[in-house]
Order: sequence, then C-alpha cells, then structure tokens
Amino acid sequence: MRNETMAIHAGYEPEATTHAVAVPIYQTAAYAFDCADHGAALFNLEAEGFRYSRIANPTSAVLEKRISQLEGGVGALAVATGQAALHFAFVNVADHGGNIVSVPQLYGTTHTLLSHILPRQGITGRFAESDKPEAIERLIDENTRAVFAETIGNPAGNVCDIEALAKIAHAHGVPLIVDNTVATPILLKPFDYGADIAVHSLTKFLGGHGTTLGGTIVDSGNFPWAKHADRFPAYNKPDTSYHGLVYAERFGRTAYIERARSVYQRTMGSVLSPFNAFLLLQGIETVALRMERHVENARKVAEFLRKDPRVAWVNYTGFPDSPYYPLVQKYLDGNASSLFTFGIKGGMEAGKTFYDALKLITRLVNIGDAKSLACHPASTTHRQMSAEQQRVAGVLPETIRLSIGIEHSADIIEDIDQALDKACPSRLQAAE
Ligand SMILES: Cc1ncc(COP(=O)(O)O)c(C=O)c1O
Repeated sequence: MRNETMAIHAGYEPEATTHAVAVPIYQTAAYAFDCADHGAALFNLEAEGFRYSRIANPTSAVLEKRISQLEGGVGALAVATGQAALHFAFVNVADHGGNIVSVPQLYGTTHTLLSHILPRQGITGRFAESDKPEAIERLIDENTRAVFAETIGNPAGNVCDIEALAKIAHAHGVPLIVDNTVATPILLKPFDYGADIAVHSLTKFLGGHGTTLGGTIVDSGNFPWAKHADRFPAYNKPDTSYHGLVYAERFGRTAYIERARSVYQRTMGSVLSPFNAFLLLQGIETVALRMERHVENARKVAEFLRKDPRVAWVNYTGFPDSPYYPLVQKYLDGNASSLFTFGIKGGMEAGKTFYDALKLITRLVNIGDAKSLACHPASTTHRQMSAEQQRVAGVLPETIRLSIGIEHSADIIEDIDQALDKACPSRLQAAE
C-alpha cells in the first residue's frame, strides 16, 4: 500500500463483534482471562492477546500497526508523549556507563534529556560539533550504544545524511536511532536509508491538529543484536526481571520493540490513553494530504520573506543555495520542511515586536499543527541552553521559528506582512 492508503487503513479491519468501521476506543484497564492457563500464557508472552492496558491496548495497537507500516518497520510501541518515546528509546540500548553520540541540532528538551537527565542515570549524551558524519564518528567509542539524530532538526531545519550516519553507526556495531517527527514517514522513510529505530512525537504533524500528545518508537527489525552481544548484553543474556528471557533469541527481529514494551512500558508506564490513540488515528488519516499543503505553503512564505527588504535572513532548506539543498533532494524528494527559521532586521527587539504583532499565526511552542505557528526559541524551547549551545543548535537571539500550516497561503503571508510593518515601519529604511 502507498502512504495515503496506509494512513487510512493500515492496522485495522472492521472488528468481528460489531463490525465498527471507525477504530473503537477500548477504554478498559484490563482484559478477562479464559482460565488460569490462558492468563499464564499471556504473561509468558506465549499467547497473543491483551492483559492490562499499561502493556498494550487494542486501540493503541491499531495506531502502533499503522505507524509501523508507514515507516516500514516490524513493530511499534505507542507511549504518552514524544519525550517518553525518546527516553525509552535511549534506555533500551544504553545502561550505566554507556553513551549516545548525537548531532547537536536537537529539540531543546531532547538536548536536556541527553545532557542533564540521562547522565544522572549514568548514560552520557555526547554532542558532535556538527551533523557531519565525520564529527559523529570522532565521538564513538567502545561504550557507545547508539548514534542519534533528528532527520530534520527542530528548529535548525538541517537535514541529516541518514545513509552516511547509518554506515558509520553500523561500522562501529551500534544502531542509528532517529527522531522522524518533523519529516514524518510521508516525507522520509529513514529505514530505507539504514536507520534502525525511528521515534516520533505524534503530537506534531502525524496527529496534526494540536489537540493530543503522543509518542511512538518504531523498530526496523534490522539491527543484529545477537551479533553485537558484548555491546548489548541486555538482549543476549537472560533477563532476571523476566524469568530468564533472552530477547534476541526469543524475538529475533522484534527484540528491540518487545523489550521496550516488556521492560520499560511495563515497569515505568508513560501509557498513551486509548482516547488519545483514537484522536491520533483520526489525525493520521489526512497526514499525507496535509504534508503536501504544509510543504507548498511554506515554500510560498519562504519566498515572500526572502524577497522582503525588512528580513535579514531566511533559513529555508528549499532554496538552492542552502547547504542542505542536496540532502532535501535526496531524502525529501525536494519537499523542504514547513518548519524553518528567519530573522528580521533590527535583531532581538524587532523580532519581538514582529512576534507580538502576529494576528493569525499563533504564538506558542508547538509545531506541525494545521494552524500556522510561530515561536521565539531563544526565550522558550531552547532557553535552558547556553548561548553557544543555542548557536550550534541553530538558534540566534532574533530567530523566529515558523511552522507553516495549511490555511490559505495568502492569509498567512498577509499576517506576516502586517507584523513586519509594525516591527520595521519603513520598507525603505529596511532596504538601506
Ligand atoms: C523533534 C521533536 N521531538 C520530540 C518532541 C517531544 O514531543 P512531545 O511534546 O510529544 O513530548 C518534540 C516536541 O516539540 C519535537 O519537536
């Protein structure tokens, strides 16, 4: 099936009891066992089925199958938020003493997770100088457990060379984990280029309406955990917390995602509610259509900004002079992201005046909504970083991040135009 069809049908057929066409919301905490042996078989992971909604739920299971098919994976785990997905994705490869080597251009909270929170649990985030494969390779050592990148960085908009990063990760015997939130599997399928694990905040483009938090981890099934037994003992030695289960032996290609569910989802929670899974499934039905319009509108807005004398710079990877333009052609089929940044003349103060003057475009910290959104990262999402870390992450004091929605492009541009007038009253003055 193709993207548009999978987004609507994958993972669900009208269920046997009621023949409900829409995915039912299974608002239940637990599931009855036929008998003691049935319960035991479920707990031994020998029988398929549901036992308790912290571990799996039929509504969320449809969402998991749908995203997994869209990504071309062997399985997925749905969790409460994108951050929970990232946390589980990292601890599912790294224990105390391990490190994750990452590109520096990350969503601010993920940067905090890797630089402050995981280190307290003995897992270190190592940030490369840039997203260049050589910079990543320099930081990999015997304690590295994964390479990590956002396929399209938020807010830098950089497009990572997934194929090159995957080659380097694999040469050192570690998986490549990517956050594919901004691209979505509609614009980019990272497994096609060698990534092993994809993580999503479903809160953004996939859900698409700014109503519902959610996250997911998708397993490509391609990383050979058994081949790297010394680096990944958790997959290759008996798990004493689960009566001696050896994940790589028992699950083969789905070892990673099964372990994420049995170890982390089971003991730490972060569960997506079935109602939220339902809302996210509604959103996903239209994601392919929406992405088309997001991309098209963003191009028009970026072109408008670039021609405007009041604007100092526009960081849009769809311009042929962007250093990421070749990667946009290779990985995104020319569809540059609708998430991009720009700065207006007059620096921080003019930027703030512009931001406050917006009427249609909402001031907030979210991306990927049907609505157009604007954010001032230096004072919000990336506030916890030092000025230097902000610079490397693509955030300057004046940077405005836009997430262009699917309204009529002329209305979006009119709003930007009037806000620029307020921030920079004389076009001629700006041109000087
Ligand atoms: C690229 C990226 N990954 C992960 C997240 C975290 O997602 P959530 O807010 O669903 O926890 C965000 C949130 O903005 C994000 O932009």
